[in-house]
Amino acid sequence: MSKRTIVTMPGDGIGKIVLPEALRVLDAVGFEAEYVHADIGWEFWRTEGNPLPQRTLDLLEKHKIGLFGAITSKPKAEAAKELAPELQDKGYVYYSPIVGLRQHFDLDICMRPCKTFKGNPLNFIRKGPNDTIEEPEVDVVIFRQNTEGLYVGVEWTNPPEEVFNALLTHPKMKKFADVPREEIAISTRIFTRKYTERIVRAAFEYADKYGYKSVTIAEKPNVIRETSGMMLAIAREVAEEYPHIELWNVNIDAMMMWLTKNPEDYGVIVAGNMFGDIVSDGFAGLVGGLGFACSANIGKEVAIFEPTHGSAPKYETFDPPIVNPIAMILSACMMLDHLGENEKANRIRQAIAAVIAEGKVRTYDMLKMKGAPDVVEKGAASTRQMTDAIIAKLQ
Ligand code: NAI
Ligand code: MG
Repeated sequence: MSKRTIVTMPGDGIGKIVLPEALRVLDAVGFEAEYVHADIGWEFWRTEGNPLPQRTLDLLEKHKIGLFGAITSKPKAEAAKELAPELQDKGYVYYSPIVGLRQHFDLDICMRPCKTFKGNPLNFIRKGPNDTIEEPEVDVVIFRQNTEGLYVGVEWTNPPEEVFNALLTHPKMKKFADVPREEIAISTRIFTRKYTERIVRAAFEYADKYGYKSVTIAEKPNVIRETSGMMLAIAREVAEEYPHIELWNVNIDAMMMWLTKNPEDYGVIVAGNMFGDIVSDGFAGLVGGLGFACSANIGKEVAIFEPTHGSAPKYETFDPPIVNPIAMILSACMMLDHLGENEKANRIRQAIAAVIAEGKVRTYDMLKMKGAPDVVEKGAASTRQMTDAIIAKLQ
């Protein structure tokens, strides 16, 4: 079989640090691939007025699989100021290239696993009976609808008259009828049957394949009746095809409370774009936070794998680099799973588990240090040392 080609997009800041670490681990585990670099991020915004150049889209179109580090985003006005002088005032408008990638390639299924590694000092603990301390083992995979809902950007401040009038046809809009339009901001939450069914189905298929006992819809169908209600109704239909998997319906607000009470009870969780973002950050916090949170953005043709953390620019220039490469390496494992290389992915995850369980090599976040250039002198592992330790444990 010819070698696969993976499009690598380090992006900005620590993206440029952690992505090469993941490639070292992929090499060490014997994954055979060619890597082509693709430009994305702030540098290309500044110099070309486009943080996601067409040549990057072309490479992804061709090779279908992307590994992404992180990008830096800044508010519109600040972004405009940093444009190269010759590009100023030419009408360039900044947009987030990762959101752009999700929309362009219709990467509608976002998967975010949150799994406890035993021995991680950042694991969530709680009090049990008689003041005992319990460390619940979390093994949750969040399926977040990635392209619809509140993030589509159909929104207005001072909505156009035809929009406002159309809304007034809804009886519940009456109480806003006399509010001056310029004092109204509206964001729409749009769900479609097609994409809602795709995310729900992906969740059930995953639960079935990997032996999870339950799928939980984390929405708010009793209040947000139409959109959350649609997801719950579809989940009830799909659940009939999986009688061995329980369907749970937990309101998003209650979910955020339960996840600190009984996180070990949950398996696969499904939510729309916004609630999925929230609940996945909540669970990530139980298993080590940003240094451990990995994700996949999967469409019908293209899939992109990335840590959920951003570019943490203040750490970009530290020598040696100090950030935790595990979130990026776990994202590469998700890529291997997607490519059917589960055995290699599991070997990497076991090596990470072994390093964490042993407890000798810990990055600054695991030691609860404040990120500073001297953390390595003070006993924290550098980024490279962590990767080396993981590679050394590969069986
Ligand atoms: P961030 O995730 O970059 O960093 C927040 C803090 O988390 C850091 O200061 C650091 O203490 C910690 N952290 C992050 N990654 C870590 C790692 N691998 N190991 C150890 N500690 C880690 O979020 P922040 O500071 O809000 O945003 C920085 C830039 O990143 C912004 O421009 C933002 O727009 C962008 N961003 C990009 C994302 C992406 O590329 N998908 C996601 C989130 C933010
Ligand atoms: Mg987030």
